[in-house]
Amino acid sequence: MAKVKTTFFCQNCGTQHAKWTGKCGVCNEWNTIVEEVIQKEEKRKWQQATTAKNNSVPLKIEDIQLNPEERIATNNNELDTVLGGGLVKGSVTLLGGEPGIGKSTLILQVALQLSQKVLYVSGEESQSQIKMRAERLQGKSTNCFILTETNTQRIFKNIEDVQPEILVIDSIQTLHTNSIEASPGSISQIRETSAELIKFAKETATPIILIGHINKEGHIAGPKILEHMVDVVLQFEGDRNHTYRILRAQKNRFGSTSELGIYEMLSDGLREVSNPSEILISKKDADLSGTAIASTLEGVRPLMIEIQALVSTAVYGTPQRSTTGYNLKRLHMILAVLEKRAGFKLGAKDVFLNITGGIHVDDPAIDLAVVAAILSSNQDIAISPKVCFAAEVGLAGEIRPVSKIDQRILEAEKLGYTSFVASKYNKIVSTKHNIKLILVGKIEEAFATLFA
Ligand code: TYD
Ligand code: MG
Repeated sequence: MAKVKTTFFCQNCGTQHAKWTGKCGVCNEWNTIVEEVIQKEEKRKWQQATTAKNNSVPLKIEDIQLNPEERIATNNNELDTVLGGGLVKGSVTLLGGEPGIGKSTLILQVALQLSQKVLYVSGEESQSQIKMRAERLQGKSTNCFILTETNTQRIFKNIEDVQPEILVIDSIQTLHTNSIEASPGSISQIRETSAELIKFAKETATPIILIGHINKEGHIAGPKILEHMVDVVLQFEGDRNHTYRILRAQKNRFGSTSELGIYEMLSDGLREVSNPSEILISKKDADLSGTAIASTLEGVRPLMIEIQALVSTAVYGTPQRSTTGYNLKRLHMILAVLEKRAGFKLGAKDVFLNITGGIHVDDPAIDLAVVAAILSSNQDIAISPKVCFAAEVGLAGEIRPVSKIDQRILEAEKLGYTSFVASKYNKIVSTKHNIKLILVGKIEEAFATLFA
């Protein structure tokens, strides 16, 4: 019996080491080296066949012809926006996300809407399970093939028969190749199988969508180099208790990474949300204290979100501070600024902060709305739902300018807001607005105008 051969891989950079060490000598990361079983086999057949015919020669950049049909529109507007206009031929797109967030649903739905021939390879679900899922979804494609397979050599064999125009792999962690013996999902298997697939994509100009699992830190499971190797890395995220899902690009060789797609998970699949501001603001009859609307910029698209705060006297000795969708440290900072610079005694109060819709916002432009919501709850005075805020709050209690203010004002005006509170240090280019601009320089001024 052949001796089992094992070797050591760095989970971060993928380097192979002869023995285990605490620190990878190549990327200097600690605790990333894991042991794996490998066994070299004869050269992969598919690779031998293709390497010979595709000899690239150097070309002058002006001589390289661009084919206008390089992109395949997916008929899914949100996905197309995030991709920068559709799937680029020969590109490899990696879609990551938590289990059950809807990765398989999204991609199957896209596959069913395409007129191109799609081969959907699943290593996780049987053909009939996928059929059952497809029955729930709306798209009806006659050109979508489903294959349940995990061995890449057999997948390539099927590809030769089907000749798909788009290939989907669900998921990369279930695949294994004959050329090495490590178990599916291990660093070396993911590296090998994805390298085979990427090579196939480049040489045949077939776009591939890879679905990937994420680990508990939220990174795509497997070697970090997987993200370097692929062309596009998309992240599908959302709060499982809410129906909204956000698709964002972490890396995109063919477009911007600042675009964002929003979906709603319904019983018949994912619905594209084209006007996200509407859904993120709760509809209510009476003016309630403790809420404020912020204009945030996700990608190039301004988004109106609702901030809710609850300030109440602490029941226990230590006041509680808790946030959903907002950085807790930043809340502490804002409370300290309110205490020190504006004289609000919040030290003995519980403060709860919530961004409705279950989304997480990092844009500092929502600071002023957070302040407004907290003060509104503290004073129990409602802020008109027609007012919207966009400014950062500095440590000295100053109201700081934010980027792309004109775009934010325009969006607020379009959505029917009547007042817009921003920093007076912001340079506002356009002057013709149908919205009342309230420009403030300090927290006290903002407070005075709001609760006058
Ligand atoms: P799935 O695509 O299997 O998640 P992933 O591939 O990311 O692990 O999504 C499964 C969840 O989506 C499941 O909890 C049920 C829900 N779902 C709907 O709400 N509506 C639908 O039409 C479908 C197909 C799934
Ligand atoms: Mg799945």
